[in-house]
Amino acid sequence: MTISYTGLRTRDDSGLIATGEARPLLSWHPVGARAYTVEAAADAAFDEVIASLTTERTFDVPLPGPALASREVRWWRVRAVGEEEWSEPCRVEAALLEAGDWTARPVTVPAAPDAVPLLRREFALPQGILSARLYVTALGLHQTWINGALVSEDLLEPGWTEYRDRLLYATYDVTGLLAEGRNAIGAAVADGWYRGPLGWFGRSAWYGDRTALLAQLEVETVDGCVVVGTDETWRGGTGAVASAGLYAGCTTDLRNEPRGWREPGFDDRDWAAATTLDLPAGLEHRSMPAVRAVRTWPVEVVADGRLRLDTGQNLAGYLRVTATGPAGAEITVRHAEVLDDQGELHTAPLRSAASVDRYTLDGGRAVLEPVFTFHGFRYAEITADPEVRIDGVEAVAISSDLRRTGRFSCSDERVNRLYDNVIWSQMDNFVSIPTDCPQRDERLGWTGDIQVFAPTACRNSDARSFLRNWLRDLAIAQYPDGKMPHVVPDILGDLGDWGSGSTGWGDAAVGVPWALYEAYGDLETLRDQYASMRAWVDWGASRLDADRVWSAGFHFGDWLDPGAPSGDPARAAVPTPFTATAYLSHSARLLARIAGLLGRAEDADHYGALGDAIADAAWKHLGNKAIETQTGCAMALRFRIAPDDERHAVGERLAALVRARGGRIGTGFLGTPLILHALTETGHHEEAYLLLMNERCPGWLHQVGQGATTVWERWDAIGEDGRIHGGDMDGGGPMLSFNHYAYGAVADWLYATVAGLSPAAPGWSAVSFAPVPGGGLTWASAEMDTPIGRAAIRWETGDGSFSAEVEVPPGATATVTLPPGDWSSLRLNGRTLQIAPVLDLGPGVHRIALSSSRS
Ligand code: BGC
Repeated sequence: MTISYTGLRTRDDSGLIATGEARPLLSWHPVGARAYTVEAAADAAFDEVIASLTTERTFDVPLPGPALASREVRWWRVRAVGEEEWSEPCRVEAALLEAGDWTARPVTVPAAPDAVPLLRREFALPQGILSARLYVTALGLHQTWINGALVSEDLLEPGWTEYRDRLLYATYDVTGLLAEGRNAIGAAVADGWYRGPLGWFGRSAWYGDRTALLAQLEVETVDGCVVVGTDETWRGGTGAVASAGLYAGCTTDLRNEPRGWREPGFDDRDWAAATTLDLPAGLEHRSMPAVRAVRTWPVEVVADGRLRLDTGQNLAGYLRVTATGPAGAEITVRHAEVLDDQGELHTAPLRSAASVDRYTLDGGRAVLEPVFTFHGFRYAEITADPEVRIDGVEAVAISSDLRRTGRFSCSDERVNRLYDNVIWSQMDNFVSIPTDCPQRDERLGWTGDIQVFAPTACRNSDARSFLRNWLRDLAIAQYPDGKMPHVVPDILGDLGDWGSGSTGWGDAAVGVPWALYEAYGDLETLRDQYASMRAWVDWGASRLDADRVWSAGFHFGDWLDPGAPSGDPARAAVPTPFTATAYLSHSARLLARIAGLLGRAEDADHYGALGDAIADAAWKHLGNKAIETQTGCAMALRFRIAPDDERHAVGERLAALVRARGGRIGTGFLGTPLILHALTETGHHEEAYLLLMNERCPGWLHQVGQGATTVWERWDAIGEDGRIHGGDMDGGGPMLSFNHYAYGAVADWLYATVAGLSPAAPGWSAVSFAPVPGGGLTWASAEMDTPIGRAAIRWETGDGSFSAEVEVPPGATATVTLPPGDWSSLRLNGRTLQIAPVLDLGPGVHRIALSSSRS
């Protein structure tokens, strides 16, 4: 029987032609073999084998042979030991791995804030072009063309990193864009995150006051290699894009487009000579997917004296407008997430992020879209001069183009809408970095938000390389004493104590790498982030008082607890010293497990004991007060703060608190991801479903009931009376986003408990099927494209019966925990079995049928 090998990939899933990893990590789906051979060669025919290895692993296996050299191409293939057939050959190509590989230097021309200068150069190529690579990045953002063709559809390149220490570049295969003889390369460069305004306090030029392009084109020809790099021979000019800012939007006057500047033969003698800058530090090849247009759909324009649009979906992106009109005619596009009670765009929550695109036509028909910006919006309004005709509008949603891995659905459309809202909020906030929101003058890498959402994000998508990239910046941004900034990349550092060191937020240093380990079996990231994790826990421990309680310093606490004063979201019901101390205990214990996995036995003992001692202190000194609140109970259970003999009582207490509020949730950013799991693990399924299915405010389905298409920042962003929250913050502009994913952590419970699918071991090498029907659901299903293949479940329940079909990936083991119920008969794959609470299953598809004596 021929084996087909699937899932062959490298850790670097940038989709680029080359990688910056000198030792790429390889993975493939197991085929049920004991071991595998991996072979590497210099050629696709494997005539020149470089090395091979045999391994039992199928995940993160180093490419055989020495580390790759810059520009080196190597092929690899795999087969099960004892088998003849090999997998398809796979190709890896190294990018520029040494700083010394760069002969090009960044080029810049003077440009006003928000301006978008153009840079170009012409060059000649001999006959016999074999292949060509463009290595390119910018201080700012760039779009680059060769002979008039865009080198890629990647957006907002090179993305946002801690630019002072780390700047990403990309490699493109541009062989097909070149010609013998005259060629031209040109780029537009914008401020982006590098020089544009960041945050709500109106400061710009965070990383530098001159934008620049760095490009190195290497053309292999029959006569050798021709290198065309950015240098003093480049020239700079201005084009149609007058200004572009991430928050502000984009202003384009098509009449100012210099015709032909992207092609050879353009006369640029009046353009300015470019000057060069030093090579930036920390040039690193992008190893995660690019930001791309991921969804596009037509939007109807409602012309009632004004041109209004409802895209039907809150998104991060922009509108592509096709319009016809005379030269000089103007078109303006404004955006908002919601309409106010007059039906007007409610733009106040955008604060200083104007999010307005302006166009001036140059006569005739034009397809208009902004560049170097994006907006967070559902609704828009177009204002156009009377002589303009709008021929069509499309909504374009952008996101870091991660591979979708998880899907969930059930018999209740409201819950399905909630799940879709979570997917959209993740997509809209995974734009180069994980942000809090995509619309206002924030859009920052808030650590706390991704800390609570990371496990869910890793179910929904293959988020490994994306979050690994962000974690590298987290370690860079961390303070020397281990304190963690609130946002990464860090732009709040100057705000002193307020700007760093909060519980739940800083814990992203431990929680996010742990989420990657659980979801993907990713030991490498644990290893790479270990020093950062330990520094955070040590810093936290240094804050403890004599009672081992963390009571001092600023913390966000259970942020946006629905009971907190709307102007002071940090004033949650659960005492913040409890959340701070409990979270530190949790992180110390996680660090102990991680130390154990990495063979650091001493650290494992130390942090294990530290975590236990802090837990005891939290319970002893703050437990009673804490369990008067939903978050306190949930945290006491999920973080094992409550001693084992108290867990039942705390579970009872939590269930009572939920019933007392009629199923209305009472938790903020830190309690919400924990509460449903805490109820389930203490057997309070009914109360968990009471929370999920509650349509009153605050609650997930209240948002759905109010027409939400993404997850809201505040539970009461829109009240039961339909009124929009003022968003008032003591001493700041309105804080009111309709697109924050923190409360979207509910999807983790939808996968694990409603559908019943979760990993029982890191990387899904063991799968747990533990569905708990409830809330009136008659069926639910979930599937996961795990690192080792597809896992799935679909169950149906009816009067006294329950049936399920489950799929276990090859090479995995699985357990099925039967749903609660007094079952009288069990059939597995058509065979009748003794009723047992847990079934063990091997790879493949299995059918389970339960019935009770009632049916
Ligand atoms: C952000 C949140 C963040 C919070 C912490 C808000 O402004 O939008 O995402 O977690 O501040 O204060």
